[in-house]
Amino acid sequence: MEDKIALITGANKGIGFEIAKGLAERGVTVLAGARSEERGRKAAAEIGVGFLQLDVTEPDSVANAARQVADRYGRLDILVNNAGIAKADGNWNTSELTLATARKVFEVNFFGVISVTNAFLPLVHRAESGRIVNVSSELGSLGTITDPSFPFGDIQPGAYGASKSALNLLTVSYAKELRDTPIKINAVTPGYTATDLNGNQGHRTPAEGARSAIDAALIGDDGPNGAFLSDGEIDFLEGVVVPW
Ligand SMILES: NC(=O)c1ccc[n+]([C@@H]2O[C@H](COP(=O)([O-])OP(=O)(O)OC[C@H]3O[C@@H](n4cnc5c(N)ncnc54)[C@H](OP(=O)(O)O)[C@@H]3O)[C@@H](O)[C@H]2O)c1
Repeated sequence: MEDKIALITGANKGIGFEIAKGLAERGVTVLAGARSEERGRKAAAEIGVGFLQLDVTEPDSVANAARQVADRYGRLDILVNNAGIAKADGNWNTSELTLATARKVFEVNFFGVISVTNAFLPLVHRAESGRIVNVSSELGSLGTITDPSFPFGDIQPGAYGASKSALNLLTVSYAKELRDTPIKINAVTPGYTATDLNGNQGHRTPAEGARSAIDAALIGDDGPNGAFLSDGEIDFLEGVVVPW
């Protein structure tokens, strides 16, 4: 059987780097996407995978990346929308949030996913059983964030959480469109992971944070479509299904 081809956005560091590494270790032909050619090439060389310049907020970069994958492979088996940013203003109070910051966050975490997914979807349709994974967050889960037992209940999700809630609904929307195809699209949460995104405060390692995305990228034909999943090891969540 031919190797699966996977593209991971924001793969030059953090969770994306570990998703790329984990998929490569499982025999997948990985393209590590990164907006910086220098950082991306360095990371791709470290894992021993291909590099693809891809800034999810730049339409030309997205179109160019899709053209390269089309020319080289003619299909894409796995797309992991991992690139993301977390920004706020002042003391992270929602009342201090500026529109400029909110727009920046949505530009990457939400609009970027639409741009990349729609550019690559024709190639995912050409795969035998395409998989799309949207890296979301429990801060985008209305069920979790309003649960009194959620251990990070004092955190204001702000534009970051809102962008992930929007991403979750987008995932469901794509899943509805794709339900009669072999493609499965799911959202995942890595859990609170030590990366640059949170000043390395998270208590999971990036390799642990990558697990849910790797599982969803390799999910079988009998697996879910339009679900919100964890790796089942996040202590405040029960099982692998994350509340919306
Ligand atoms: N860490 C956590 O606790 C946690 C929890 C839940 C969900 N997540 C999600 O996990 C994903 C990965 O985050 P992380 O924690 O690994 O953070 P990270 O270490 O800061 O990595 C973020 C990645 O996204 C890339 N990126 C940012 N803007 C981009 C753009 N416009 N185009 C392409 N790539 C871009 C970054 O590239 P540069 O190096 O060029 O900036 C970097 O490779 C995000 O979607 C995040 O929301 C993280």
